[in-house]
Formats: sequence, structure tokens, C-alpha cells
Amino acid sequence: MRPQKSVAAAILVAAFSSGVGATDRAPEQIVAERCCKCHGPEGRSSNPDFPKLAGQNADYLTRQLANFKTGVRTSDPMQQEVAHLTGGEMRALALYLSAKEIGPEPVAARGEAAIGMALYFSGDPENGVTACITCHGPEGRGAMYLPRLAGQHAKYLVAQLHAFRDQSRVAPDMVMHTVIENVSDAGIVAVAQFLSGMK
Ligand code: HEC
Ligand code: HEC
Repeated sequence: MRPQKSVAAAILVAAFSSGVGATDRAPEQIVAERCCKCHGPEGRSSNPDFPKLAGQNADYLTRQLANFKTGVRTSDPMQQEVAHLTGGEMRALALYLSAKEIGPEPVAARGEAAIGMALYFSGDPENGVTACITCHGPEGRGAMYLPRLAGQHAKYLVAQLHAFRDQSRVAPDMVMHTVIENVSDAGIVAVAQFLSGMK
């Protein structure tokens, strides 16, 4: 093999192994053209049906995009979106969005939030519910594959907790399914309200 060819081959190998392709679009372009319709400019959605992506952990975002792509996690709009994305674009989007400020979610003081706070920090040992803080952390920010919950829309959180409980949202590890099994509808609303107001 002539030197130029082996250099070209090495570059190709490097490009594939890092997942970045030559034709990948910049994350800001993809967000402006596609994601912002639902998730808002810079991933700060104002519509509570769509999760905020700004400030979310990059590894978590990458994994969820991959889950939509493989069909592990189902969502009609998201499955259509990821069909157009390469592995490199998904990783770049995750890093780009995770570096944005989530912004505070204004919440009026609600009675349920106090009950939600107790569930978050202490769980419900009588009913076998592990405290959320164990995995999502004292400030609700998660880490790596554990999502940030602080400041997320309450309506989205409620929908996801129901989806875990009825097992319509699937994850490879299924830990959330065990955690949420014995939490009541009222408990789900309370913890979601508490979390959406958490800074
Ligand atoms: C037509 C509306 C729509 C568009 C456009 C859209 N999304 Fe979504 N997205 C959703 C909905 C709805 C959900 C919640 C899915 C569910 O219920 O599980 C979601 C969920 C997500 C999640 C999971 C977040 C979490 O906290 O688990 C990620 C990541 C995501 N979208 C990224 C993107 C990216 C990146 C783009 C642009 C390429 C995009 N979305 C475009 C509607 C949309
Ligand atoms: C043993 C660890 C663990 C505990 C305890 C735990 N979680 Fe989770 N949680 C996870 C993992 C892991 C995921 C990501 C699942 C996936 O990859 O889809 C998650 C995801 C979530 C999501 C989805 C967020 C999003 O953006 O879509 C919500 C909401 C959530 N957890 C709320 C809670 C609440 C409320 C509690 C306490 C009642 C709790 N979790 C306790 C591990 C845990």
C-alpha cells in the first residue's frame, strides 16, 4: 500500500471508530431545523408535553436517542426524528444540548410538592419504594446514564412515570420499573411537582 492510501485508510478508521462522519451536520443546525419545533430553541421547550433537553446529562441523551433508534423506547415523533440521524450526529447533539442552561421552571407553591419531597428524599420503605435521591442525587441532577430530573416539566415527568409503571417505556436495566411499581397516582403527581420546581 502506498503511503497516501494508508494515511487515508487510517483517517477513515479513526472517523468510523469515533462515530463522526464527514457528512455529519452541526448540532446547532439540526436543532434549528428539526428539534426546536417541539423541544424549543436550545432544547428549552415551553410545551410541557415535550421534555427539556437543555442541561440533561450527555450520556443519558445519547443512550435515549439510541434507544429510540433501535426501538427499545417507542415514540412515533422521536422514531421519525432519529431515523435521519447518524451515530456521530446523535452524540454531538447530546453534548451540545447538555451544555445549555435548563432555565428555571416557575412553579406556584402546591400542597403536593411537600409529599413529593418526602418521597424523593426518603422513599416509602413500608411499600418498598427506594428513595429517588439514591440514584438521581441530592440536587436531582443524576449523572451519566441517570437523567437529570430537576427543572423538568411536571406533565412530562408524570407521563414517563406512568409509562414505567405500566411498562410501556422499556429500558435495558428496568430499575425504574421496580422503583415505581408501588407508587400511587397521587405519589407520581406529587414527586413530579416537587421535581419541576427543583433548581
Ligand atoms: C414532533 C415533535 C418532536 C420533534 C421534532 C423532536 N422531538 Fe424529541 N421528543 C418528542 C416527544 C413527544 C418526546 C417524549 C417521548 C416519550 O413520550 O417517551 C421526546 C423525547 C426526546 C428525548 C428523550 C428525553 C428524555 O428526557 O428522556 C430526546 C433525547 C429527544 N427527544 C431528542 C430530540 C432531538 C435531538 C430532536 C431533533 C433531532 C428531537 N428530539 C425532535 C417530540 C419531538
Ligand atoms: C436504582 C436507581 C434509581 C432509583 C432509586 C430511581 N431512579 Fe429514576 N431512573 C433511573 C434510571 C437508570 C433511569 C433511566 C432509564 C432509561 O434509561 O430509560 C431513570 C429515569 C427516570 C425518569 C425519566 C426521566 C426522563 O427524562 O425521561 C424519571 C421521571 C425518574 N427516573 C424518576 C424517578 C423517581 C421519581 C424516583 C423515586 C420515586 C426514581 N426515579 C428513583 C434510576 C433510578
